[in-house]
Amino acid sequence: MVVGVDRYAVFGNPIGHSKSPLIHRWFAEQTGQDLQYEAILAPVDGFADCWQDFVQAGGKGANVTVPFKEVAFALAQVLSERAKQAGAVNTLYISSNGQLCGDNTDGQGLIADLERLGVAIAGARVLLLGAGGASRGVVGPLLEAGAAQVHIANRTADKATTVAGLFNGQVTASGFNDIPRLNWQIVINATSSGLSQQRPDIDASHLQSCRLAYDMMYGKEPTAFLNWSQQHGVPICADGIGMLVAQAAESFQLWRGVKPELAPVLEKITALVRR
Ligand code: ATR
Repeated sequence: MVVGVDRYAVFGNPIGHSKSPLIHRWFAEQTGQDLQYEAILAPVDGFADCWQDFVQAGGKGANVTVPFKEVAFALAQVLSERAKQAGAVNTLYISSNGQLCGDNTDGQGLIADLERLGVAIAGARVLLLGAGGASRGVVGPLLEAGAAQVHIANRTADKATTVAGLFNGQVTASGFNDIPRLNWQIVINATSSGLSQQRPDIDASHLQSCRLAYDMMYGKEPTAFLNWSQQHGVPICADGIGMLVAQAAESFQLWRGVKPELAPVLEKITALVRR
Protein backbone atom coordinates (compact mmCIF):
# COMPACT_ATOMS: atom_id res chain seq x y z
CA MET A 1 0.00 0.00 0.00
CA VAL A 2 1.32 3.45 -0.86
CA VAL A 3 0.76 5.85 2.00
CA GLY A 4 0.45 9.47 0.89
CA VAL A 5 2.31 12.26 2.60
CA ASP A 6 0.38 14.07 5.36
CA ARG A 7 -1.41 17.12 3.99
CA TYR A 8 -1.98 20.46 5.70
CA ALA A 9 -3.21 23.78 4.36
CA VAL A 10 -4.17 27.34 5.12
CA PHE A 11 -7.70 28.34 4.14
CA GLY A 12 -8.54 31.98 3.49
CA ASN A 13 -10.03 34.45 1.04
CA PRO A 14 -7.91 36.08 -0.27
CA ILE A 15 -4.99 33.72 0.33
CA GLY A 16 -2.49 34.43 -2.47
CA HIS A 17 -0.12 36.44 -0.31
CA SER A 18 -0.10 34.04 2.64
CA LYS A 19 3.36 33.33 4.02
CA SER A 20 2.11 30.21 5.85
CA PRO A 21 3.05 27.63 3.15
CA LEU A 22 6.62 28.90 3.14
CA ILE A 23 6.87 29.05 6.93
CA HIS A 24 5.52 25.50 7.36
CA ARG A 25 7.76 24.15 4.59
CA TRP A 26 10.75 25.62 6.40
CA PHE A 27 9.54 24.18 9.73
CA ALA A 28 9.15 20.76 8.08
CA GLU A 29 12.66 20.88 6.61
CA GLN A 30 14.13 22.01 9.90
CA THR A 31 12.45 19.27 11.97
CA GLY A 32 12.73 16.51 9.33
CA GLN A 33 8.94 16.11 9.12
CA ASP A 34 7.51 14.71 5.90
CA LEU A 35 4.44 16.78 5.05
CA GLN A 36 2.80 18.92 2.42
CA TYR A 37 1.35 22.36 3.13
CA GLU A 38 -0.62 24.38 0.61
CA ALA A 39 -2.76 27.52 0.40
CA ILE A 40 -6.43 26.95 -0.41
CA LEU A 41 -8.72 29.73 -1.59
CA ALA A 42 -12.19 28.87 -0.26
CA PRO A 43 -15.29 30.66 -1.53
CA VAL A 44 -16.47 33.23 1.00
CA ASP A 45 -19.60 31.18 1.78
CA GLY A 46 -18.03 27.77 1.13
CA PHE A 47 -15.48 27.07 3.84
CA ALA A 48 -17.21 24.01 5.34
CA ASP A 49 -17.47 22.20 1.98
CA CYS A 50 -13.91 23.07 1.10
CA TRP A 51 -12.66 21.70 4.41
CA GLN A 52 -14.69 18.47 3.93
CA ASP A 53 -13.18 17.98 0.46
CA PHE A 54 -9.74 18.49 1.92
CA VAL A 55 -10.31 15.90 4.67
CA GLN A 56 -11.70 13.41 2.10
CA ALA A 57 -8.50 13.88 0.14
CA GLY A 58 -6.39 13.04 3.20
CA GLY A 59 -6.06 16.45 4.85
CA LYS A 60 -4.89 16.15 8.46
CA GLY A 61 -5.09 19.72 9.68
CA ALA A 62 -5.25 23.35 8.67
CA ASN A 63 -4.72 26.93 9.54
CA VAL A 64 -7.69 29.18 9.05
CA THR A 65 -7.42 32.86 8.32
CA VAL A 66 -9.67 35.79 7.36
CA PRO A 67 -12.65 35.51 6.91
CA PHE A 68 -13.12 31.93 8.14
CA LYS A 69 -11.98 31.91 11.77
CA GLU A 70 -15.51 32.21 13.15
CA VAL A 71 -16.93 29.60 10.74
CA ALA A 72 -14.16 27.20 11.76
CA PHE A 73 -15.09 27.90 15.40
CA ALA A 74 -18.70 26.89 14.66
CA LEU A 75 -17.61 23.79 12.74
CA ALA A 76 -15.25 22.34 15.35
CA GLN A 77 -16.64 19.58 17.58
CA VAL A 78 -14.10 20.13 20.32
CA LEU A 79 -12.77 23.59 21.18
CA SER A 80 -9.73 24.47 23.29
CA GLU A 81 -10.23 26.96 26.12
CA ARG A 82 -8.22 29.59 24.28
CA ALA A 83 -10.35 29.12 21.14
CA LYS A 84 -13.47 29.60 23.27
CA GLN A 85 -12.00 32.77 24.77
CA ALA A 86 -11.07 34.09 21.33
CA GLY A 87 -14.40 33.10 19.78
CA ALA A 88 -12.36 32.06 16.76
CA VAL A 89 -10.29 29.13 15.50
CA ASN A 90 -7.06 29.47 13.55
CA THR A 91 -5.98 25.81 13.79
CA LEU A 92 -7.99 22.70 12.94
CA TYR A 93 -7.03 19.05 13.23
CA ILE A 94 -8.65 15.65 13.51
CA SER A 95 -8.05 13.93 16.84
CA SER A 96 -7.14 10.24 17.13
CA ASN A 97 -10.82 9.42 17.81
CA GLY A 98 -11.90 11.24 14.66
CA GLN A 99 -13.26 14.45 16.19
CA LEU A 100 -12.69 17.81 14.57
CA CYS A 101 -10.72 19.94 17.03
CA GLY A 102 -10.40 23.72 16.91
CA ASP A 103 -7.69 25.69 18.64
CA ASN A 104 -6.37 29.23 18.48
CA THR A 105 -2.62 29.83 18.55
CA ASP A 106 -2.67 33.58 17.78
CA GLY A 107 -2.51 34.73 21.39
CA GLN A 108 0.32 32.37 22.25
CA GLY A 109 2.08 33.62 19.12
CA LEU A 110 1.93 37.17 20.46
CA ILE A 111 3.16 36.11 23.92
CA ALA A 112 6.08 34.21 22.39
CA ASP A 113 7.02 37.24 20.31
CA LEU A 114 6.88 39.65 23.25
CA GLU A 115 9.16 37.24 25.11
CA ARG A 116 11.55 37.17 22.15
CA LEU A 117 11.67 40.96 22.30
CA GLY A 118 12.70 40.74 25.93
CA VAL A 119 9.74 42.61 27.37
CA ALA A 120 8.24 41.16 30.54
CA ILE A 121 4.48 40.73 30.42
CA ALA A 122 4.23 39.64 34.05
CA GLY A 123 3.32 42.71 36.07
CA ALA A 124 3.03 44.96 33.02
CA ARG A 125 0.22 47.42 32.32
CA VAL A 126 -0.94 46.68 28.78
CA LEU A 127 -2.94 49.03 26.57
CA LEU A 128 -4.62 47.06 23.80
CA LEU A 129 -5.98 49.10 20.88
CA GLY A 130 -8.85 47.62 18.87
CA ALA A 131 -11.81 45.42 19.72
CA GLY A 132 -12.15 43.11 16.71
CA GLY A 133 -11.20 39.46 16.40
CA ALA A 134 -7.48 40.17 16.53
CA SER A 135 -7.83 41.94 19.86
CA ARG A 136 -10.19 39.42 21.47
CA GLY A 137 -7.81 36.56 20.65
CA VAL A 138 -4.94 37.97 22.68
CA VAL A 139 -6.67 39.18 25.87
CA GLY A 140 -6.82 35.78 27.60
CA PRO A 141 -3.17 34.89 26.86
CA LEU A 142 -2.02 38.36 28.11
CA LEU A 143 -3.88 37.82 31.38
CA GLU A 144 -2.49 34.30 31.72
CA ALA A 145 1.02 35.63 31.11
CA GLY A 146 0.51 37.77 34.22
CA ALA A 147 -0.24 41.26 32.85
CA ALA A 148 -1.08 43.47 35.84
CA GLN A 149 -3.71 45.28 33.80
CA VAL A 150 -5.20 45.00 30.34
CA HIS A 151 -7.19 47.98 29.05
CA ILE A 152 -8.96 47.72 25.70
CA ALA A 153 -9.45 51.01 23.89
CA ASN A 154 -11.38 51.17 20.65
CA ARG A 155 -12.52 53.87 18.22
CA THR A 156 -16.04 52.57 18.90
CA ALA A 157 -16.11 52.42 22.71
CA ASP A 158 -19.08 50.03 22.94
CA LYS A 159 -17.20 47.29 21.18
CA ALA A 160 -14.31 47.58 23.64
CA THR A 161 -16.77 47.28 26.53
CA THR A 162 -18.31 44.17 24.98
CA VAL A 163 -14.97 42.41 24.56
CA ALA A 164 -13.78 43.41 28.05
CA GLY A 165 -17.08 42.03 29.43
CA LEU A 166 -16.02 38.53 28.35
CA PHE A 167 -13.21 38.52 30.91
CA ASN A 168 -15.00 38.63 34.29
CA GLY A 169 -14.08 42.15 35.35
CA GLN A 170 -10.35 41.58 34.81
CA VAL A 171 -10.20 43.93 31.83
CA THR A 172 -11.19 47.60 31.52
CA ALA A 173 -12.40 49.36 28.40
CA SER A 174 -12.95 52.81 26.87
CA GLY A 175 -12.96 54.87 23.72
CA PHE A 176 -9.70 56.45 22.53
CA ASN A 177 -10.41 59.73 24.36
CA ASP A 178 -11.03 58.17 27.76
CA ILE A 179 -7.99 55.97 28.19
CA PRO A 180 -6.85 56.15 31.84
CA ARG A 181 -3.45 57.80 32.40
CA LEU A 182 -1.71 54.80 33.88
CA ASN A 183 1.87 54.65 32.59
CA TRP A 184 1.26 51.92 30.03
CA GLN A 185 4.37 49.81 29.57
CA ILE A 186 3.21 47.82 26.54
CA VAL A 187 0.95 49.32 23.87
CA ILE A 188 -0.38 46.88 21.27
CA ASN A 189 -2.12 47.92 18.08
CA ALA A 190 -4.67 45.21 17.25
CA THR A 191 -6.70 47.48 14.96
CA SER A 192 -6.62 47.16 11.19
CA SER A 193 -5.77 50.88 10.87
CA GLY A 194 -2.44 50.01 9.25
CA LEU A 195 -4.26 48.71 6.18
CA SER A 196 -5.22 52.30 5.37
CA GLN A 197 -1.85 53.81 6.46
CA GLN A 198 -3.54 55.25 9.53
CA ARG A 199 -2.90 54.87 13.24
CA PRO A 200 -5.31 54.67 16.17
CA ASP A 201 -5.96 58.26 17.19
CA ILE A 202 -4.80 58.15 20.83
CA ASP A 203 -2.97 60.82 22.76
CA ALA A 204 0.83 60.58 22.64
CA SER A 205 0.99 60.97 26.44
CA HIS A 206 -0.04 57.30 26.72
CA LEU A 207 3.37 56.39 25.31
CA GLN A 208 5.30 58.19 28.03
CA SER A 209 6.30 55.05 29.97
CA CYS A 210 5.96 52.67 27.07
CA ARG A 211 8.85 50.22 26.60
CA LEU A 212 7.29 48.34 23.70
CA ALA A 213 4.95 49.44 20.94
CA TYR A 214 3.72 46.39 19.02
CA ASP A 215 1.65 46.35 15.85
CA MET A 216 0.00 43.03 15.04
CA MET A 217 0.11 43.98 11.34
CA TYR A 218 3.31 43.71 9.35
CA GLY A 219 4.56 44.77 5.96
CA LYS A 220 7.52 46.00 3.96
CA GLU A 221 7.50 49.36 5.75
CA PRO A 222 6.77 50.11 9.41
CA THR A 223 3.10 50.88 10.05
CA ALA A 224 1.91 54.43 10.82
CA PHE A 225 1.47 53.37 14.47
CA LEU A 226 5.08 52.16 14.73
CA ASN A 227 6.50 55.27 13.02
CA TRP A 228 4.51 57.45 15.41
CA SER A 229 5.61 55.40 18.46
CA GLN A 230 9.23 55.68 17.41
CA GLN A 231 8.91 59.44 16.95
CA HIS A 232 7.67 59.61 20.54
CA GLY A 233 10.71 57.79 21.86
CA VAL A 234 9.38 54.27 22.49
CA PRO A 235 12.56 52.16 22.75
CA ILE A 236 11.25 48.95 21.16
CA CYS A 237 8.88 49.13 18.18
CA ALA A 238 7.99 45.83 16.51
CA ASP A 239 5.53 44.61 13.92
CA GLY A 240 3.60 41.34 13.89
CA ILE A 241 5.92 39.28 11.73
CA GLY A 242 7.32 37.49 14.77
CA MET A 243 3.78 36.73 15.94
CA LEU A 244 3.00 35.26 12.52
CA VAL A 245 5.93 32.84 12.76
CA ALA A 246 5.28 32.01 16.42
CA GLN A 247 1.57 31.22 15.94
CA ALA A 248 2.52 29.00 13.00
CA ALA A 249 5.03 27.14 15.20
CA GLU A 250 2.32 26.53 17.81
CA SER A 251 0.05 25.04 15.13
CA PHE A 252 2.89 22.91 13.77
CA GLN A 253 3.50 21.54 17.26
CA LEU A 254 -0.21 20.69 17.70
CA TRP A 255 -0.17 18.71 14.47
CA ARG A 256 3.25 17.09 14.61
CA GLY A 257 4.23 17.04 18.29
CA VAL A 258 7.50 18.82 17.48
CA LYS A 259 8.27 22.47 18.19
CA PRO A 260 10.28 24.15 15.45
CA GLU A 261 12.97 26.71 16.19
CA LEU A 262 11.65 30.18 15.47
CA ALA A 263 14.75 32.31 14.90
CA PRO A 264 16.01 30.92 11.55
CA VAL A 265 12.53 30.99 10.01
CA LEU A 266 11.81 34.48 11.33
CA GLU A 267 15.08 35.69 9.82
CA LYS A 268 14.24 34.28 6.39
CA ILE A 269 10.64 35.46 6.33
CA THR A 270 11.65 38.95 7.51
CA ALA A 271 14.19 39.22 4.70
CA LEU A 272 11.49 38.23 2.23
CA VAL A 273 8.85 40.64 3.52
CA ARG A 274 11.22 43.63 3.79
CA ARG A 275 12.84 43.02 0.39
P1 ATR B 1 -9.80 42.06 13.06
O1 ATR B 1 -10.35 40.67 12.96
O2 ATR B 1 -8.54 42.30 12.28
O3 ATR B 1 -9.69 42.53 14.46
P2 ATR B 1 -12.26 43.56 12.71
O4 ATR B 1 -13.00 42.61 13.54
O5 ATR B 1 -12.87 44.10 11.46
O6 ATR B 1 -10.87 42.98 12.25
O7 ATR B 1 -11.85 44.81 13.65
C1 ATR B 1 -11.12 45.89 13.16
C2 ATR B 1 -10.67 46.74 14.34
O8 ATR B 1 -9.82 47.79 13.85
C3 ATR B 1 -11.81 47.44 15.06
O9 ATR B 1 -11.44 47.57 16.43
C4 ATR B 1 -11.85 48.80 14.37
O10 ATR B 1 -12.42 49.83 15.13
P3 ATR B 1 -14.03 50.07 15.14
O11 ATR B 1 -14.59 48.97 15.99
O12 ATR B 1 -14.21 51.42 15.70
O13 ATR B 1 -14.45 49.95 13.70
C5 ATR B 1 -10.39 49.05 14.20
N1 ATR B 1 -10.02 50.03 13.17
C6 ATR B 1 -10.05 49.87 11.83
N2 ATR B 1 -9.59 50.98 11.21
C7 ATR B 1 -9.25 51.87 12.19
C8 ATR B 1 -8.68 53.18 12.19
N3 ATR B 1 -8.37 53.83 11.07
N4 ATR B 1 -8.46 53.77 13.39
C9 ATR B 1 -8.76 53.14 14.53
N5 ATR B 1 -9.28 51.90 14.60
C10 ATR B 1 -9.53 51.25 13.44
